[in-house]
Amino acid sequence: MAKLWGGRFELESSKLLEDFNASISFDCQMWEEDIQGSRAHAKMLHKIGILQQDELDSILQGLEQITQRFKEGTFALKNSDEDIHMAIESALTNLIGESGKKLHTARSRNDQVALDFKLYTLKANAQLRAQILELMQTLLDIARNHTHTLMPGMTHLQHAQPVSLAFHLVAWCCNFLRDVKRLESTFTRNDTSPLGSGALAGTPYGNDREFVARELGLSAPSLNAMDSVSERDFALDLLYDIAMLMMHISRVSEELVLWSSAEFGFVTLSDSFSTGSSIMPQKKNPDVPELLRGKSGRAFGNLQSLLVVMKGLPLAYNKDTQEDKEAVFDSIRTAQICLEILNACLKTTQFNPQNMLKMAQSGHLSATDLADFLVKKCNIPFRDAHHITGRIVAYAQSQGKDLSQLRKEELTSIDSRIPKEAKKVLDLQSSMQARNSLGGTASMQVKSQIKTLQDSLNDAQESLAQTKLATFNPRGEKRAK
Ligand code: ARG
Repeated sequence: MAKLWGGRFELESSKLLEDFNASISFDCQMWEEDIQGSRAHAKMLHKIGILQQDELDSILQGLEQITQRFKEGTFALKNSDEDIHMAIESALTNLIGESGKKLHTARSRNDQVALDFKLYTLKANAQLRAQILELMQTLLDIARNHTHTLMPGMTHLQHAQPVSLAFHLVAWCCNFLRDVKRLESTFTRNDTSPLGSGALAGTPYGNDREFVARELGLSAPSLNAMDSVSERDFALDLLYDIAMLMMHISRVSEELVLWSSAEFGFVTLSDSFSTGSSIMPQKKNPDVPELLRGKSGRAFGNLQSLLVVMKGLPLAYNKDTQEDKEAVFDSIRTAQICLEILNACLKTTQFNPQNMLKMAQSGHLSATDLADFLVKKCNIPFRDAHHITGRIVAYAQSQGKDLSQLRKEELTSIDSRIPKEAKKVLDLQSSMQARNSLGGTASMQVKSQIKTLQDSLNDAQESLAQTKLATFNPRGEKRAK
């Protein structure tokens, strides 16, 4: 079959070349963005006098018919069309005839693919932010009920100081808020339109690039044509953002794996989000958080893979760049599914404050509080206070008790300088509430952290709602059932 670019060729393409060269099997995911770009381009061509009104009308109608075919799943994808851009252009010409051949005036596939791919990543960016915000809302809703729920705070995975469950969940949320902000900045740094850059040097047609950018809901035309067709920073930015997000998801998941073990028992994962063992009938496995933890691997790999593709390329467009898409599609899909399932899993997870308390009571977590109390209230030098506290810990241990469970009399019998009120600071709840410094674990502080996060979440949602880009749902028809 004759190629759209076949004018100077005498021999037919080898089938081997055709299959190797083609990207349509994966770039078909950008059909919507390609049509969006073509609409804006056609309107611009009409505006600058290249297309007559009837030609524009028939192009727009043809593109509408093609949209329907994609939605119904009846658009035939053939490697002989090479990529989505040529597939749509030749389908258009088959449908409407001569005016279809005018659509490619004043553009090249190089600026076309840069635009399509950029639009795709920007839409995915907005959609991922919406999903992260949902996840944050879930965490904040759980946290609100647990500002007094004690658990052992750990460093080196060893018991350190008592904290509240809410404090821990808020810490997770802080990671996710940074992910949202990172995506926001990736979005605003990259929302320019490369269309009209032509092959690399601009076009001789006087394209109205401002008009095209406005039509597409982008902030402005990109600055330099050569840069526009060769850079893939927008894709790398997104891959990095997703890698960070997945690293956070992985750390949260690791804690869910730990917390759901018999040793911790902090959470019970719902049966609907757990799996069994094919051989050990008693087992209930945390496959969901384990897979979430494991999925970060491919997200990091995708970032690495595109960095390597780009690193030696001379300006401007090179075909190597065609290797940019699968990594990005995979990272987007991975992040979407991971956010969806983590959110659903958390919503059905049961938190077990009793087990958290039990573990908090087994590490003498309030020892520092007692030493501080003896210094501040009894004017005992810190070195002595440390020593006295050490003796009390040893006593508690010999009694098989936690420090927080000792009676007043037991304390005073060890050292007569210890007043009765010391009992109060041993209490884990008081110890937790005492850390009332800004950002600390005291309920008052955590409530204020929750409020700040909720405000940021609401702001982020608002700025998302103002995004002028068409909504994006690459999962819908594009995800395998
Ligand atoms: N399928 C190509 C890609 O993904 C489209 C651009 C091709 N341009 C060209 N001049 N061969 O990069």
